[in-house]
Amino acid sequence: MSKEFDMELAELWEACSDKLRNKIVLVNRLEELLVAHGITEKSTILDVAGGFGFPSIDLARRGYQIVYSDGSPGMLQKAIQNADSVQGIGPLFSFQSIGYSFVPWQKYAEFYGSDVWDALICMGNSLPYAASWGQENPDLKKSRELIKETLNQFHRMLTKNGILYVDKQPEAQDQAVEEVGEVEVDGKKLFMTCSFDNDKVNRIRNLTFITRDLKTGQEKQYPSHGYLLLEDELIPLLHEVGFKDVQKHVLEGEIYEGFIAKK
Ligand SMILES: C[S@@+](CC[C@H](N)C(=O)[O-])C[C@H]1O[C@@H](n2cnc3c(N)ncnc32)[C@H](O)[C@@H]1O
Repeated sequence: MSKEFDMELAELWEACSDKLRNKIVLVNRLEELLVAHGITEKSTILDVAGGFGFPSIDLARRGYQIVYSDGSPGMLQKAIQNADSVQGIGPLFSFQSIGYSFVPWQKYAEFYGSDVWDALICMGNSLPYAASWGQENPDLKKSRELIKETLNQFHRMLTKNGILYVDKQPEAQDQAVEEVGEVEVDGKKLFMTCSFDNDKVNRIRNLTFITRDLKTGQEKQYPSHGYLLLEDELIPLLHEVGFKDVQKHVLEGEIYEGFIAKK
């Protein structure tokens, strides 16, 4: 993947997420869920798909010890910018608790070791892209195997009774074209649309970001392909790698469907 494409994807995802999710409500509900499962300000939390810094920056602002991690250099760059811009606002905000790391999931266990984290967060429909994020023509044949290996590594890294929050696209979604609306990316005003086509037979999720430059009228498409991870596979996979007490939680403000699972 080119550096430019990786950065563009990071910017488009941030613009899209900001429009489609209610981040304040969502972080409130996520925090309540974590607290209900025993997470406190003393717990160690790893955001494995840190993206542009959501929700790790928001949770760090609330006093949680959270480490950001992501495989994409573009996302990491965005997250650092976002953390810096909030930090500059004043003494109310502290990011001492946020740390940055840059490790793909495939190398997690060797990097972080076992029994380290009290909670792992993997949200934004990230897990299905384990084999394909940012690739224009990914080979999805190994996706299921890689997703299982990733869950295995997540399980190993958790402390006893540690929890994983992981989400995926809505179970019932088939095909949809959603208008994200006007966004500003890299100083350009764009009209953005997201198109989804979930191929339930071949288990492929096709997601295309479409942008139209509001000044020049130029249209661009950013297609991506992920594994269509449905509940009939995710729940058994969580159990297979050793998770227990798997429960579905759809958080208010979120467009995805989450699950909480205990080691
Ligand atoms: C759609 S974004 C979600 C980001 C954020 N969690 C959110 O909720 O907005 C998916 C993220 O997963 C990360 N990701 C996907 N596969 C990965 C892998 N194998 N290793 C590390 N990060 C990965 C991508 O780099 C990307 O930042």
